[in-house]
Amino acid sequence: MDVVEAIRTRRSIRKFKQCALDSNQVQAFKDAVRWAPSAHNLESRKFYFVFDQTKVKDLCAVTLNKFEPVMPLVVVACADCRRTGSLDKYAIMDVAASVENLLLAVHGLGLGAVWVGAFDAGEARKILKIPDGFEPLVLVPIGMPTDPRRAGSRKRKRWKSPDGEKKWK
Ligand SMILES: Cc1cc2nc3c(=O)[nH]c(=O)nc-3n(C[C@H](O)[C@H](O)[C@H](O)COP(=O)(O)O)c2cc1C
Repeated sequence: MDVVEAIRTRRSIRKFKQCALDSNQVQAFKDAVRWAPSAHNLESRKFYFVFDQTKVKDLCAVTLNKFEPVMPLVVVACADCRRTGSLDKYAIMDVAASVENLLLAVHGLGLGAVWVGAFDAGEARKILKIPDGFEPLVLVPIGMPTDPRRAGSRKRKRWKSPDGEKKWK
């Protein structure tokens, strides 16, 4: 799947069935988060790849969605505030860039994932023993979609030319 098709066809997947991940897939996910752009190339981000099924269950339980814990992997994306000095916009953007890369890589490999911002970061910190200086921002459950055609619909705003567009031409 080329990258434009992946961008166009990716959907948030919230219902999973259990599946095995091979080492090539896991490596692709690690590459996806590592090779995202980064402000000042500081890489002010850190990722926990959680395969332990007890922890997967505990992490699902602290999401607002209360995801059914039937996925082989949950990635917890943290800002590395030690590198930026604080939870500044660049640390947040670094994490966001990696998360989008991850979602596209997952989709490109025929699996599903969802960007989860609504979770109890304090509880996630306890579950994973995340040290001070790292701020859990996004949780990404990854697995096999129950419906590969993807449940639910998606709307997008229509593209309207901003006034400025004419001036820039
Ligand atoms: C910053 C951010 C936070 C999100 N948090 C959640 C969340 O907590 N739970 C959830 O089910 N989806 C979450 N989503 C996914 C959005 O609901 C989803 O991307 C949106 O509905 C568009 O659907 P699509 O991803 O299928 O295009 C989040 C997305 C973003 C970008």
